[in-house]
Amino acid sequence: MGVDFSAEAVRQAREYAGRLGAAAEFRTGDLAATGLDADSADAVLCVDAIHFAPHSQAAYREIARILAPGGRAVLTCWEPLSWDDQRLPERLRRVDLRAGLTAAGFASVEVGERPGWRAAERAMWEQAAALDPGDDPALRAFHDEGVRSLQTFDLVRRVIAAATAP
Ligand SMILES: C[S@@+](CC[C@H](N)C(=O)[O-])C[C@H]1O[C@@H](n2cnc3c(N)ncnc32)[C@H](O)[C@@H]1O
Repeated sequence: MGVDFSAEAVRQAREYAGRLGAAAEFRTGDLAATGLDADSADAVLCVDAIHFAPHSQAAYREIARILAPGGRAVLTCWEPLSWDDQRLPERLRRVDLRAGLTAAGFASVEVGERPGWRAAERAMWEQAAALDPGDDPALRAFHDEGVRSLQTFDLVRRVIAAATAP
């Protein structure tokens, strides 16, 4: 079951899963209100999204709510090297996976750095920054995100967290 608040993201995910022949369902829902039943998931994978939640603690609580007791959560994101660094967007400055998971009641919280993932990420943003977006608003947004991301690239670390639901 895949959840995203963007109907377009859900449409693309469905199409991709169809091409892969994967038995997957998708629905629109918010990080803090997925619409999934309590205790209904054995595991939750939240990829590069938790920093978008306006109230991140509500999102961590939602992950705990939908997980069956003892279920596992795995999250990937970026964390600031310094939480005071004003050069970073506010949403990245507040990411602290260990603190968020712990406050939501998770146990066995492990957070690890993945420096090996960064080369591919940098190459993607370099391509985005180098492209000519023309009049296409989506390409313009991607280009601008590439430029911004390269400016702050070395101010964050790539992280993955795993934890056990209460
Ligand atoms: C960097 S993308 C990652 C997408 C996907 N997890 C993946 O790995 O391909 C971040 C995603 O978070 C979604 N998103 C942002 N805020 C959200 C929210 N409050 N609730 C649900 N999804 C949200 C966006 O629509 C976007 O698809």
